[in-house]
Amino acid sequence: MDNLDELLTCRLDFGSKAVEPCSIVIFGASGDLTARKLIPALYHLFLEKQLPNPFRVIGFARREKSDAAWREELNQALQQFSRTKPVDAAKWTAFAANVHYCQGEFSDAASYQKLERQLAGFGVEALRRNVLFYLATSPSQFAEVVEHLHKAELLRRHEEKNFWQRVVVEKPFGHDSASARKLNAELTRFAHEKQIFRIDHYLGKETVQNILMFRFSNAIFEQLWGRNSVDHVQITVSEKHSVGARGGYYEEAGAIRDMVQNHLLQVLALVAMEPPVSLEAESIRDEKVKLLKSIRPLLSVQVANQIVRGQYLDGEIDGQPRPAYRKEPKVNPASNVETYVALKLFIDNWRWSGVPFYLRTGKNLPLSASEVRVQFRPTPNVLFAAQCGPKLDANAITLRLQPNEGISLRFNGKIPGASMRLRPVRMHFSYDSEFGAYTPEAYERLLLEAICGDATLFIRSDEVETAWGIVDAIRAGWDGTSLAEKEFYAAGTWGPVAADELLAKGGHAWRNPQPIT
Ligand code: BG6
Repeated sequence: MDNLDELLTCRLDFGSKAVEPCSIVIFGASGDLTARKLIPALYHLFLEKQLPNPFRVIGFARREKSDAAWREELNQALQQFSRTKPVDAAKWTAFAANVHYCQGEFSDAASYQKLERQLAGFGVEALRRNVLFYLATSPSQFAEVVEHLHKAELLRRHEEKNFWQRVVVEKPFGHDSASARKLNAELTRFAHEKQIFRIDHYLGKETVQNILMFRFSNAIFEQLWGRNSVDHVQITVSEKHSVGARGGYYEEAGAIRDMVQNHLLQVLALVAMEPPVSLEAESIRDEKVKLLKSIRPLLSVQVANQIVRGQYLDGEIDGQPRPAYRKEPKVNPASNVETYVALKLFIDNWRWSGVPFYLRTGKNLPLSASEVRVQFRPTPNVLFAAQCGPKLDANAITLRLQPNEGISLRFNGKIPGASMRLRPVRMHFSYDSEFGAYTPEAYERLLLEAICGDATLFIRSDEVETAWGIVDAIRAGWDGTSLAEKEFYAAGTWGPVAADELLAKGGHAWRNPQPIT
Protein backbone atom coordinates (compact mmCIF):
# COMPACT_ATOMS: atom_id res chain seq x y z
CA MET A 1 0.00 0.00 0.00
CA ASP A 2 1.46 3.40 -0.86
CA ASN A 3 1.41 6.29 1.60
CA LEU A 4 -1.66 7.93 0.17
CA ASP A 5 -3.74 4.79 0.59
CA GLU A 6 -2.50 4.49 4.13
CA LEU A 7 -3.52 8.05 4.86
CA LEU A 8 -6.94 7.30 3.48
CA THR A 9 -7.51 4.32 5.76
CA CYS A 10 -10.52 5.15 7.83
CA ARG A 11 -11.20 3.42 11.13
CA LEU A 12 -14.75 3.05 12.25
CA ASP A 13 -14.35 1.18 15.50
CA PHE A 14 -12.23 3.55 17.62
CA GLY A 15 -13.47 3.70 21.13
CA SER A 16 -16.59 1.70 20.45
CA LYS A 17 -15.31 -1.74 21.41
CA ALA A 18 -14.81 -2.28 25.08
CA VAL A 19 -12.93 -5.45 25.89
CA GLU A 20 -13.63 -5.90 29.58
CA PRO A 21 -12.20 -8.58 31.85
CA CYS A 22 -14.39 -11.64 31.54
CA SER A 23 -14.65 -15.42 31.66
CA ILE A 24 -15.60 -17.57 28.71
CA VAL A 25 -17.37 -20.78 29.67
CA ILE A 26 -17.61 -23.41 26.94
CA PHE A 27 -20.36 -26.02 27.34
CA GLY A 28 -19.60 -29.17 25.38
CA ALA A 29 -15.91 -28.55 25.85
CA SER A 30 -14.84 -32.04 24.86
CA GLY A 31 -16.40 -31.71 21.40
CA ASP A 32 -14.73 -31.18 18.09
CA LEU A 33 -15.63 -27.52 17.78
CA THR A 34 -13.72 -26.59 20.93
CA ALA A 35 -10.53 -28.33 19.82
CA ARG A 36 -10.68 -27.35 16.16
CA LYS A 37 -12.05 -23.84 16.27
CA LEU A 38 -12.68 -22.24 19.65
CA ILE A 39 -9.38 -22.82 21.43
CA PRO A 40 -7.27 -22.03 18.33
CA ALA A 41 -9.30 -18.83 17.90
CA LEU A 42 -8.87 -17.79 21.55
CA TYR A 43 -5.16 -18.62 21.41
CA HIS A 44 -4.72 -16.37 18.36
CA LEU A 45 -6.69 -13.56 19.96
CA PHE A 46 -4.34 -13.92 22.93
CA LEU A 47 -1.27 -13.78 20.65
CA GLU A 48 -2.63 -10.62 19.08
CA LYS A 49 -3.30 -9.13 22.53
CA GLN A 50 -6.97 -8.80 21.77
CA LEU A 51 -8.28 -10.69 24.77
CA PRO A 52 -9.10 -8.73 27.89
CA ASN A 53 -6.79 -8.70 30.84
CA PRO A 54 -7.51 -10.64 32.94
CA PHE A 55 -9.56 -13.35 31.22
CA ARG A 56 -10.34 -16.98 31.97
CA VAL A 57 -11.61 -19.87 29.87
CA ILE A 58 -13.52 -22.70 31.53
CA GLY A 59 -14.38 -25.89 29.69
CA PHE A 60 -17.52 -27.51 31.08
CA ALA A 61 -18.08 -31.15 30.17
CA ARG A 62 -19.08 -34.50 31.53
CA ARG A 63 -15.84 -36.39 31.80
CA GLU A 64 -13.65 -36.10 34.87
CA LYS A 65 -10.29 -34.50 34.13
CA SER A 66 -7.80 -32.11 35.66
CA ASP A 67 -6.94 -28.65 34.34
CA ALA A 68 -3.53 -29.99 33.39
CA ALA A 69 -4.96 -32.91 31.44
CA TRP A 70 -7.38 -30.67 29.57
CA ARG A 71 -4.65 -28.17 28.72
CA GLU A 72 -2.50 -30.97 27.37
CA GLU A 73 -5.37 -32.26 25.21
CA LEU A 74 -5.94 -28.77 23.85
CA ASN A 75 -2.25 -28.29 23.21
CA GLN A 76 -2.19 -31.47 21.11
CA ALA A 77 -5.21 -30.31 19.15
CA LEU A 78 -3.72 -26.87 18.62
CA GLN A 79 -0.58 -28.39 17.09
CA GLN A 80 -2.90 -29.90 14.51
CA PHE A 81 -5.47 -27.17 13.93
CA SER A 82 -3.64 -23.90 14.53
CA ARG A 83 -3.64 -21.60 11.50
CA THR A 84 -0.11 -20.49 12.44
CA LYS A 85 2.61 -23.03 12.94
CA PRO A 86 4.66 -23.92 14.85
CA VAL A 87 2.73 -23.14 18.00
CA ASP A 88 4.80 -20.87 20.25
CA ALA A 89 5.34 -23.02 23.37
CA ALA A 90 5.97 -20.10 25.72
CA LYS A 91 2.91 -18.20 24.49
CA TRP A 92 0.79 -21.32 24.74
CA THR A 93 1.90 -21.82 28.34
CA ALA A 94 1.03 -18.21 29.15
CA PHE A 95 -2.37 -18.60 27.48
CA ALA A 96 -3.09 -22.02 29.00
CA ALA A 97 -2.50 -20.71 32.52
CA ASN A 98 -5.92 -19.02 32.08
CA VAL A 99 -7.66 -22.18 30.92
CA HIS A 100 -9.56 -24.35 33.40
CA TYR A 101 -11.86 -27.32 33.42
CA CYS A 102 -15.15 -27.89 35.23
CA GLN A 103 -16.57 -31.38 35.33
CA GLY A 104 -20.34 -31.29 35.35
CA GLU A 105 -23.62 -32.62 34.02
CA PHE A 106 -25.79 -30.30 31.96
CA SER A 107 -28.88 -31.47 33.81
CA ASP A 108 -27.49 -31.25 37.33
CA ALA A 109 -28.11 -28.06 39.31
CA ALA A 110 -25.17 -28.81 41.62
CA SER A 111 -22.78 -28.70 38.67
CA TYR A 112 -23.73 -25.08 38.06
CA GLN A 113 -23.10 -24.27 41.72
CA LYS A 114 -19.69 -25.77 41.25
CA LEU A 115 -19.15 -23.61 38.18
CA GLU A 116 -20.23 -20.58 40.20
CA ARG A 117 -17.67 -21.40 42.89
CA GLN A 118 -14.97 -21.82 40.28
CA LEU A 119 -15.74 -18.42 38.75
CA ALA A 120 -15.88 -16.79 42.17
CA GLY A 121 -12.59 -18.50 43.05
CA PHE A 122 -10.76 -16.39 40.45
CA GLY A 123 -11.00 -13.63 43.01
CA VAL A 124 -11.89 -10.85 40.55
CA GLU A 125 -15.49 -9.65 40.50
CA ALA A 126 -15.48 -9.09 36.73
CA LEU A 127 -14.37 -12.67 36.05
CA ARG A 128 -17.36 -13.90 38.04
CA ARG A 129 -19.95 -11.51 36.59
CA ASN A 130 -18.86 -10.76 33.03
CA VAL A 131 -19.33 -14.11 31.41
CA LEU A 132 -19.66 -15.35 27.87
CA PHE A 133 -21.44 -18.70 27.91
CA TYR A 134 -20.68 -20.59 24.73
CA LEU A 135 -23.15 -23.37 23.91
CA ALA A 136 -21.27 -25.90 21.82
CA THR A 137 -23.49 -28.72 23.05
CA SER A 138 -26.01 -30.73 21.13
CA PRO A 139 -28.91 -28.37 20.24
CA SER A 140 -31.33 -30.37 22.38
CA GLN A 141 -29.42 -29.15 25.44
CA PHE A 142 -29.34 -25.42 24.68
CA ALA A 143 -32.50 -24.59 26.60
CA GLU A 144 -31.66 -26.78 29.57
CA VAL A 145 -28.20 -25.25 30.04
CA VAL A 146 -29.54 -21.72 29.82
CA GLU A 147 -32.29 -22.45 32.34
CA HIS A 148 -29.78 -23.87 34.82
CA LEU A 149 -27.45 -20.92 34.32
CA HIS A 150 -30.30 -18.60 35.09
CA LYS A 151 -31.40 -20.52 38.17
CA ALA A 152 -27.85 -20.58 39.49
CA GLU A 153 -27.84 -16.77 39.03
CA LEU A 154 -24.91 -17.03 36.68
CA LEU A 155 -27.02 -15.60 33.87
CA ARG A 156 -29.25 -12.66 34.77
CA ARG A 157 -31.95 -11.59 32.39
CA HIS A 158 -32.24 -8.03 33.57
CA GLU A 159 -29.64 -5.43 32.66
CA GLU A 160 -26.88 -5.05 35.18
CA LYS A 161 -25.21 -1.73 35.37
CA ASN A 162 -21.59 -2.73 35.42
CA PHE A 163 -21.59 -6.35 34.35
CA TRP A 164 -22.84 -8.44 31.48
CA GLN A 165 -23.58 -12.05 30.63
CA ARG A 166 -24.07 -13.27 27.06
CA VAL A 167 -24.94 -16.60 25.50
CA VAL A 168 -23.41 -17.70 22.21
CA VAL A 169 -25.51 -20.36 20.50
CA GLU A 170 -24.02 -22.64 17.86
CA LYS A 171 -25.93 -23.89 14.86
CA PRO A 172 -28.22 -25.58 14.10
CA PHE A 173 -30.71 -23.23 15.71
CA GLY A 174 -33.77 -25.45 15.42
CA HIS A 175 -34.62 -27.69 12.50
CA ASP A 176 -37.62 -25.73 11.14
CA SER A 177 -39.42 -22.50 11.94
CA ALA A 178 -41.59 -24.05 14.65
CA SER A 179 -38.62 -25.48 16.54
CA ALA A 180 -36.63 -22.25 16.08
CA ARG A 181 -39.57 -20.28 17.50
CA LYS A 182 -39.81 -22.67 20.42
CA LEU A 183 -36.09 -22.41 21.11
CA ASN A 184 -36.24 -18.62 20.89
CA ALA A 185 -39.09 -18.63 23.40
CA GLU A 186 -37.21 -20.94 25.75
CA LEU A 187 -33.98 -18.96 25.62
CA THR A 188 -35.63 -15.58 26.01
CA ARG A 189 -37.32 -16.72 29.20
CA PHE A 190 -33.91 -16.68 30.81
CA ALA A 191 -31.88 -14.27 28.72
CA HIS A 192 -32.85 -11.07 26.96
CA GLU A 193 -32.64 -11.15 23.14
CA LYS A 194 -29.76 -8.66 23.41
CA GLN A 195 -27.80 -11.28 25.36
CA ILE A 196 -28.22 -14.03 22.76
CA PHE A 197 -25.61 -14.33 20.02
CA ARG A 198 -26.62 -16.88 17.37
CA ILE A 199 -23.65 -17.99 15.31
CA ASP A 200 -23.36 -18.26 11.58
CA HIS A 201 -19.65 -18.55 11.05
CA TYR A 202 -19.95 -17.22 7.48
CA LEU A 203 -20.56 -13.79 8.97
CA GLY A 204 -17.14 -13.96 10.62
CA LYS A 205 -15.38 -14.32 7.29
CA GLU A 206 -13.53 -11.22 6.11
CA THR A 207 -14.88 -11.49 2.59
CA VAL A 208 -18.47 -11.80 3.77
CA GLN A 209 -18.08 -8.73 5.97
CA ASN A 210 -16.57 -6.93 3.00
CA ILE A 211 -19.78 -7.31 0.99
CA LEU A 212 -21.31 -4.36 2.84
CA MET A 213 -18.13 -2.28 2.55
CA PHE A 214 -17.88 -3.03 -1.14
CA ARG A 215 -21.48 -2.08 -1.77
CA PHE A 216 -21.88 0.92 0.48
CA SER A 217 -18.47 2.58 0.60
CA ASN A 218 -18.20 2.84 -3.19
CA ALA A 219 -20.35 4.97 -5.42
CA ILE A 220 -19.85 3.15 -8.69
CA PHE A 221 -21.11 -0.35 -7.96
CA GLU A 222 -24.27 0.53 -6.11
CA GLN A 223 -25.54 2.39 -9.19
CA LEU A 224 -25.49 -0.91 -11.02
CA TRP A 225 -26.92 -3.01 -8.19
CA GLY A 226 -30.46 -3.70 -9.26
CA ARG A 227 -32.88 -4.77 -11.92
CA ASN A 228 -31.92 -2.08 -14.43
CA SER A 229 -28.40 -3.45 -14.84
CA VAL A 230 -28.29 -6.92 -13.32
CA ASP A 231 -29.44 -9.87 -15.39
CA HIS A 232 -29.15 -12.45 -12.64
CA VAL A 233 -27.02 -13.38 -9.63
CA GLN A 234 -25.33 -16.71 -8.89
CA ILE A 235 -24.20 -17.68 -5.41
CA THR A 236 -22.12 -20.84 -5.27
CA VAL A 237 -20.76 -22.56 -2.17
CA SER A 238 -19.15 -25.70 -3.50
CA GLU A 239 -17.30 -28.20 -1.36
CA LYS A 240 -14.85 -30.79 -2.49
CA HIS A 241 -15.19 -32.90 0.63
CA SER A 242 -17.81 -35.54 1.14
CA VAL A 243 -20.15 -35.94 4.07
CA GLY A 244 -17.54 -38.31 5.50
CA ALA A 245 -18.01 -39.18 9.15
CA ARG A 246 -20.98 -36.80 9.54
CA GLY A 247 -23.47 -39.14 7.89
CA GLY A 248 -25.66 -39.40 10.99
CA TYR A 249 -26.02 -35.63 11.29
CA TYR A 250 -26.42 -35.17 7.56
CA GLU A 251 -29.29 -37.63 7.36
CA GLU A 252 -31.19 -35.24 9.64
CA ALA A 253 -30.00 -32.02 8.05
CA GLY A 254 -29.33 -32.41 4.33
CA ALA A 255 -27.80 -29.57 2.37
CA ILE A 256 -30.87 -27.35 2.72
CA ARG A 257 -30.67 -27.19 6.51
CA ASP A 258 -26.92 -27.52 6.79
CA MET A 259 -25.97 -24.81 4.31
CA VAL A 260 -28.90 -22.96 2.74
CA GLN A 261 -30.91 -21.95 5.82
CA ASN A 262 -27.87 -20.22 7.25
CA HIS A 263 -24.79 -19.55 5.14
CA LEU A 264 -26.32 -19.12 1.69
CA LEU A 265 -29.29 -17.06 2.82
CA GLN A 266 -26.98 -14.84 4.88
CA VAL A 267 -24.76 -14.19 1.87
CA LEU A 268 -27.85 -13.53 -0.24
CA ALA A 269 -29.18 -11.07 2.34
CA LEU A 270 -25.93 -9.11 2.40
CA VAL A 271 -25.65 -9.05 -1.38
CA ALA A 272 -29.22 -7.91 -1.97
CA MET A 273 -30.33 -5.89 1.08
CA GLU A 274 -31.03 -2.16 1.01
CA PRO A 275 -28.57 0.26 2.62
CA PRO A 276 -29.13 0.29 6.39
CA VAL A 277 -29.93 3.62 8.04
CA SER A 278 -26.78 3.33 10.16
CA LEU A 279 -23.98 0.90 10.90
CA GLU A 280 -25.60 -0.13 14.17
CA ALA A 281 -26.23 -3.85 14.57
CA GLU A 282 -30.01 -3.43 14.66
CA SER A 283 -30.14 -1.33 11.50
CA ILE A 284 -28.15 -3.89 9.56
CA ARG A 285 -30.16 -6.76 10.95
CA ASP A 286 -33.41 -4.95 10.16
CA GLU A 287 -32.41 -4.73 6.51
CA LYS A 288 -31.38 -8.38 6.35
CA VAL A 289 -34.71 -9.48 7.78
CA LYS A 290 -36.55 -7.21 5.37
CA LEU A 291 -34.69 -8.77 2.48
CA LEU A 292 -35.40 -12.33 3.62
CA LYS A 293 -39.04 -11.40 3.96
CA SER A 294 -39.07 -10.09 0.38
CA ILE A 295 -38.08 -13.45 -1.05
CA ARG A 296 -41.10 -14.60 -3.02
CA PRO A 297 -42.77 -17.41 -1.04
CA LEU A 298 -42.73 -20.74 -2.81
CA LEU A 299 -45.93 -22.68 -3.07
CA SER A 300 -45.43 -26.44 -2.92
CA VAL A 301 -46.32 -26.80 -6.60
CA GLN A 302 -43.57 -24.32 -7.56
CA VAL A 303 -40.83 -26.14 -5.67
CA ALA A 304 -40.30 -28.68 -8.44
CA ASN A 305 -39.75 -25.84 -10.94
CA GLN A 306 -37.47 -23.71 -8.84
CA ILE A 307 -35.55 -26.02 -6.54
CA VAL A 308 -33.30 -28.91 -7.51
CA ARG A 309 -32.01 -31.50 -5.09
CA GLY A 310 -29.08 -33.75 -5.77
CA GLN A 311 -27.23 -36.61 -4.17
CA TYR A 312 -23.77 -37.85 -5.03
CA LEU A 313 -23.07 -41.24 -6.53
CA ASP A 314 -19.75 -43.05 -6.75
CA GLY A 315 -17.16 -40.92 -8.44
CA GLU A 316 -13.65 -39.64 -8.30
CA ILE A 317 -11.90 -36.50 -7.13
CA ASP A 318 -8.21 -35.86 -7.84
CA GLY A 319 -7.87 -39.44 -9.02
CA GLN A 320 -9.23 -40.82 -5.72
CA PRO A 321 -12.46 -42.85 -5.69
CA ARG A 322 -15.34 -41.41 -3.66
CA PRO A 323 -18.16 -43.67 -2.52
CA ALA A 324 -21.78 -42.71 -3.09
CA TYR A 325 -23.63 -40.92 -0.29
CA ARG A 326 -25.80 -43.98 0.28
CA LYS A 327 -22.65 -45.95 1.11
CA GLU A 328 -21.33 -43.46 3.69
CA PRO A 329 -21.27 -44.57 7.34
CA LYS A 330 -24.54 -44.01 9.24
CA VAL A 331 -26.44 -43.25 6.04
CA ASN A 332 -29.57 -45.14 5.08
CA PRO A 333 -28.69 -47.12 1.90
CA ALA A 334 -31.97 -45.91 0.37
CA SER A 335 -31.62 -42.33 1.64
CA ASN A 336 -33.26 -39.47 -0.25
CA VAL A 337 -31.38 -36.81 1.66
CA GLU A 338 -29.87 -34.12 -0.56
CA THR A 339 -26.13 -33.49 -0.63
CA TYR A 340 -26.68 -30.79 -3.23
CA VAL A 341 -29.31 -28.15 -3.69
CA ALA A 342 -29.84 -25.44 -6.29
CA LEU A 343 -32.47 -22.73 -5.91
CA LYS A 344 -33.98 -20.12 -8.15
CA LEU A 345 -35.37 -17.35 -5.98
CA PHE A 346 -36.99 -14.02 -6.72
CA ILE A 347 -36.89 -11.00 -4.48
CA ASP A 348 -40.13 -9.10 -4.73
CA ASN A 349 -39.00 -5.59 -4.04
CA TRP A 350 -38.46 -2.48 -6.12
CA ARG A 351 -34.74 -3.07 -6.65
CA TRP A 352 -34.75 -6.71 -7.63
CA SER A 353 -38.11 -7.35 -9.21
CA GLY A 354 -37.77 -9.98 -11.94
CA VAL A 355 -34.07 -10.72 -11.34
CA PRO A 356 -33.42 -14.41 -10.68
CA PHE A 357 -31.07 -15.31 -7.85
CA TYR A 358 -29.56 -18.74 -8.32
CA LEU A 359 -28.04 -20.34 -5.23
CA ARG A 360 -26.30 -23.70 -5.10
CA THR A 361 -24.25 -25.74 -2.70
CA GLY A 362 -23.06 -29.31 -2.65
CA LYS A 363 -20.59 -31.84 -1.34
CA ASN A 364 -18.18 -33.85 -3.46
CA LEU A 365 -18.03 -31.18 -6.14
CA PRO A 366 -14.78 -30.70 -8.10
CA LEU A 367 -13.59 -27.71 -6.10
CA SER A 368 -14.08 -26.00 -2.75
CA ALA A 369 -14.94 -22.42 -3.54
CA SER A 370 -17.52 -19.85 -2.51
CA GLU A 371 -18.42 -16.95 -4.71
CA VAL A 372 -21.09 -14.46 -5.65
CA ARG A 373 -21.34 -13.64 -9.30
CA VAL A 374 -23.38 -10.63 -10.33
CA GLN A 375 -24.07 -11.09 -14.00
CA PHE A 376 -24.97 -7.89 -15.82
CA ARG A 377 -27.35 -7.51 -18.70
CA PRO A 378 -25.96 -8.00 -22.18
CA THR A 379 -25.38 -5.01 -24.43
CA PRO A 380 -28.08 -4.17 -26.97
CA ASN A 381 -27.98 -6.43 -29.97
CA VAL A 382 -26.19 -3.99 -32.27
CA LEU A 383 -22.53 -3.37 -33.12
CA PHE A 384 -20.34 -6.00 -31.46
CA ALA A 385 -23.22 -7.95 -29.98
CA ALA A 386 -24.92 -8.15 -33.38
CA GLN A 387 -21.79 -9.63 -34.87
CA CYS A 388 -20.63 -11.90 -32.06
CA GLY A 389 -24.02 -13.20 -30.95
CA PRO A 390 -24.09 -15.06 -27.64
CA LYS A 391 -20.32 -15.39 -27.73
CA LEU A 392 -20.02 -11.82 -26.54
CA ASP A 393 -19.84 -12.35 -22.83
CA ALA A 394 -21.85 -10.07 -20.56
CA ASN A 395 -20.05 -8.15 -17.82
CA ALA A 396 -19.82 -9.68 -14.39
CA ILE A 397 -18.55 -8.85 -10.94
CA THR A 398 -17.42 -11.83 -8.92
CA LEU A 399 -16.91 -11.64 -5.19
CA ARG A 400 -14.70 -14.57 -4.41
CA LEU A 401 -15.40 -15.37 -0.79
CA GLN A 402 -12.93 -18.25 -0.41
CA PRO A 403 -10.26 -19.37 -1.19
CA ASN A 404 -8.10 -16.98 -3.29
CA GLU A 405 -10.23 -14.23 -1.81
CA GLY A 406 -10.78 -11.28 -4.10
CA ILE A 407 -13.09 -9.36 -6.39
CA SER A 408 -13.03 -9.46 -10.19
CA LEU A 409 -14.70 -7.38 -12.83
CA ARG A 410 -15.04 -9.02 -16.21
CA PHE A 411 -15.47 -6.96 -19.34
CA ASN A 412 -14.61 -7.34 -23.00
CA GLY A 413 -11.49 -6.02 -24.62
CA LYS A 414 -9.79 -6.05 -27.97
CA ILE A 415 -7.08 -8.63 -28.43
CA PRO A 416 -4.06 -6.63 -29.61
CA GLY A 417 -3.18 -7.04 -33.27
CA ALA A 418 -4.36 -6.14 -36.70
CA SER A 419 -7.41 -8.39 -36.59
CA MET A 420 -10.64 -7.41 -34.84
CA ARG A 421 -10.98 -9.91 -32.05
CA LEU A 422 -12.65 -9.50 -28.70
CA ARG A 423 -12.53 -11.51 -25.55
CA PRO A 424 -13.31 -11.09 -21.86
CA VAL A 425 -10.55 -9.62 -19.70
CA ARG A 426 -10.43 -9.06 -15.98
CA MET A 427 -9.67 -6.42 -13.41
CA HIS A 428 -8.82 -8.22 -10.24
CA PHE A 429 -8.35 -7.30 -6.60
CA SER A 430 -6.70 -10.03 -4.57
CA TYR A 431 -6.64 -9.89 -0.78
CA ASP A 432 -3.28 -11.62 -0.69
CA SER A 433 -1.53 -9.21 -3.01
CA GLU A 434 -3.11 -6.13 -1.45
CA PHE A 435 -2.97 -7.02 2.23
CA GLY A 436 -0.65 -10.04 2.47
CA ALA A 437 -1.70 -13.50 3.48
CA TYR A 438 -3.60 -12.52 6.62
CA THR A 439 -6.53 -14.85 7.07
CA PRO A 440 -7.91 -14.84 10.59
CA GLU A 441 -10.39 -17.58 11.28
CA ALA A 442 -14.04 -16.56 11.35
CA TYR A 443 -14.28 -17.72 14.96
CA GLU A 444 -11.62 -15.23 16.08
CA ARG A 445 -13.68 -12.34 14.89
CA LEU A 446 -16.93 -13.79 16.20
CA LEU A 447 -15.60 -14.51 19.68
CA LEU A 448 -14.15 -11.05 19.91
CA GLU A 449 -17.40 -9.41 18.80
CA ALA A 450 -19.35 -11.43 21.35
CA ILE A 451 -16.90 -10.42 24.09
CA CYS A 452 -17.37 -6.79 23.03
CA GLY A 453 -21.14 -7.19 22.89
CA ASP A 454 -21.51 -6.23 19.22
CA ALA A 455 -24.27 -8.33 17.69
CA THR A 456 -23.87 -7.19 14.08
CA LEU A 457 -22.32 -10.48 12.98
CA PHE A 458 -24.89 -12.64 14.75
CA ILE A 459 -28.37 -13.70 13.76
CA ARG A 460 -31.42 -12.13 15.37
CA SER A 461 -34.43 -14.22 16.42
CA ASP A 462 -36.72 -12.94 13.65
CA GLU A 463 -33.95 -13.50 11.12
CA VAL A 464 -33.46 -17.14 12.04
CA GLU A 465 -37.22 -17.76 12.00
CA THR A 466 -37.67 -16.08 8.62
CA ALA A 467 -34.83 -18.10 7.11
CA TRP A 468 -36.42 -21.29 8.41
CA GLY A 469 -39.72 -20.27 6.87
CA ILE A 470 -38.09 -20.26 3.42
CA VAL A 471 -36.59 -23.69 4.00
CA ASP A 472 -39.84 -25.08 5.43
CA ALA A 473 -41.70 -24.17 2.24
CA ILE A 474 -39.12 -25.97 0.12
CA ARG A 475 -39.15 -29.05 2.30
CA ALA A 476 -42.93 -29.12 2.21
CA GLY A 477 -42.70 -29.17 -1.59
CA TRP A 478 -40.41 -32.20 -1.47
CA ASP A 479 -42.71 -33.85 1.02
CA GLY A 480 -41.30 -37.36 1.13
CA THR A 481 -40.83 -37.68 -2.64
CA SER A 482 -37.88 -39.73 -3.82
CA LEU A 483 -35.04 -38.32 -5.83
CA ALA A 484 -35.45 -38.66 -9.58
CA GLU A 485 -32.69 -40.11 -11.72
CA LYS A 486 -31.53 -36.75 -13.03
CA GLU A 487 -31.07 -35.53 -9.47
CA PHE A 488 -28.09 -37.79 -8.86
CA TYR A 489 -24.57 -36.70 -9.77
CA ALA A 490 -21.25 -38.47 -9.84
CA ALA A 491 -18.87 -37.33 -7.11
CA GLY A 492 -16.38 -34.96 -8.68
CA THR A 493 -18.87 -33.32 -11.07
CA TRP A 494 -20.65 -29.99 -10.76
CA GLY A 495 -23.97 -31.43 -9.62
CA PRO A 496 -27.02 -33.02 -11.24
CA VAL A 497 -28.23 -32.41 -14.79
CA ALA A 498 -31.47 -31.05 -13.33
CA ALA A 499 -29.51 -28.09 -11.92
CA ASP A 500 -28.25 -27.18 -15.39
CA GLU A 501 -31.78 -27.43 -16.71
CA LEU A 502 -32.99 -25.10 -13.97
CA LEU A 503 -30.83 -22.31 -15.37
CA ALA A 504 -31.28 -23.25 -18.99
CA LYS A 505 -35.03 -22.61 -18.60
CA GLY A 506 -34.21 -18.97 -17.92
CA GLY A 507 -31.63 -18.80 -20.73
CA HIS A 508 -28.78 -18.92 -18.22
CA ALA A 509 -25.91 -21.27 -17.38
CA TRP A 510 -23.91 -21.85 -14.23
CA ARG A 511 -20.52 -20.18 -14.18
CA ASN A 512 -18.31 -22.49 -12.21
CA PRO A 513 -15.70 -21.06 -9.87
CA GLN A 514 -12.20 -21.35 -11.25
CA PRO A 515 -9.47 -23.17 -9.33
CA ILE A 516 -6.91 -20.37 -9.09
CA THR A 517 -7.62 -16.80 -10.00
C1 BG6 B 1 -20.80 -25.86 8.26
C2 BG6 B 1 -21.49 -27.06 7.70
O1 BG6 B 1 -21.72 -25.02 8.88
O2 BG6 B 1 -20.13 -25.16 7.23
C3 BG6 B 1 -20.51 -27.95 6.94
O3 BG6 B 1 -22.09 -27.81 8.74
C4 BG6 B 1 -19.75 -27.14 5.92
O4 BG6 B 1 -21.20 -29.03 6.30
C5 BG6 B 1 -19.15 -25.90 6.55
O5 BG6 B 1 -18.74 -27.97 5.37
C6 BG6 B 1 -18.54 -25.00 5.51
O6 BG6 B 1 -17.81 -23.99 6.14
P1 BG6 B 1 -16.52 -23.37 5.45
O7 BG6 B 1 -16.10 -22.28 6.38
O8 BG6 B 1 -15.52 -24.47 5.31
O9 BG6 B 1 -16.97 -22.87 4.11
